[in-house]
Amino acid sequence: MIQVTNLVKRFGDQVVLQGIDVQVDRGEVLAIIGPSGSGKSTFLRCLNLLEKPTSGTIQLQNSVLTFQEKKKIPNREMRQLRGKTGMVFQSFHLFPHMTVRQNVMEGPIQVKGISASKAKSLADVLLKQVGLHDKRNAYPDQLSGGQQQRVAIARALAMEPEVLLLDEPTSALDPELVGEVLTTIRQLATGQQTMIIVTHELAFAREVADRIIFIDEGQIVEEGKPSELFERPQKERTKQFLERFTQL
Ligand SMILES: Nc1ncnc2c1ncn2[C@@H]1O[C@H](COP(=O)(O)OP(=O)(O)OP(=O)(O)O)[C@@H](O)[C@H]1O
Ligand SMILES: [Mg+2]
Repeated sequence: MIQVTNLVKRFGDQVVLQGIDVQVDRGEVLAIIGPSGSGKSTFLRCLNLLEKPTSGTIQLQNSVLTFQEKKKIPNREMRQLRGKTGMVFQSFHLFPHMTVRQNVMEGPIQVKGISASKAKSLADVLLKQVGLHDKRNAYPDQLSGGQQQRVAIARALAMEPEVLLLDEPTSALDPELVGEVLTTIRQLATGQQTMIIVTHELAFAREVADRIIFIDEGQIVEEGKPSELFERPQKERTKQFLERFTQL
């Protein structure tokens, strides 16, 4: 369903992604792990065009965008691809002046042009799904971090994305709030939502992901099923990374 080919991203002289090839099937959960600065966030941001890739191809269903330096991609094509992705950020990024329900309604109304009453029904379904329907009239600053992140997940789902991109969705949370967000993500995985999750929660990645990619210095070092990658890493860099983590 998603096919990324030879994706390169440069910031000035720095090559942050050095030709990434990734394929994700419908309903698959892909976890991306790797050291700080290895390009994980940049990769997700390229997938939904928050960053413009320097070169390479992103195919998501029938949208195929090929990037080249100095080549301009039509806005319509950018919007089309972006509309098929939903993004959940480490630091939630909710609209502070809107209630929980308004946060979830905003995208469908503004971007998809659906009616307010339909958007409201959809928001209520999604808020029930993440266990926050009783908070629908609260404002983000009246919620815990874990609750805010679950609203952010509902908001991303409201756009009915083909693929949900999650960038370290639990790393800004107090330890006691991590579990509730992981439970929500676990339920989505069971419900066949296609997802790409960047995470430092290795135990969670192992449990929820169908496949794991280890990225270092902008390159895929190794990929495989969780059991293979964790139990029998083939590359020295993967071994070192996993050892460092399990010692923490
Ligand atoms: N907008 C930008 N301008 C210049 N350099 C950037 C920009 N965004 C990221 N970089 C650089 O790209 C590299 C990869 O950053 P990225 O945020 O993708 O890493 P990461 O793997 O997500 O790290 P972390 O685990 O700390 O979140 C870093 O060296 C970073 O400084
Ligand atoms: Mg990051």
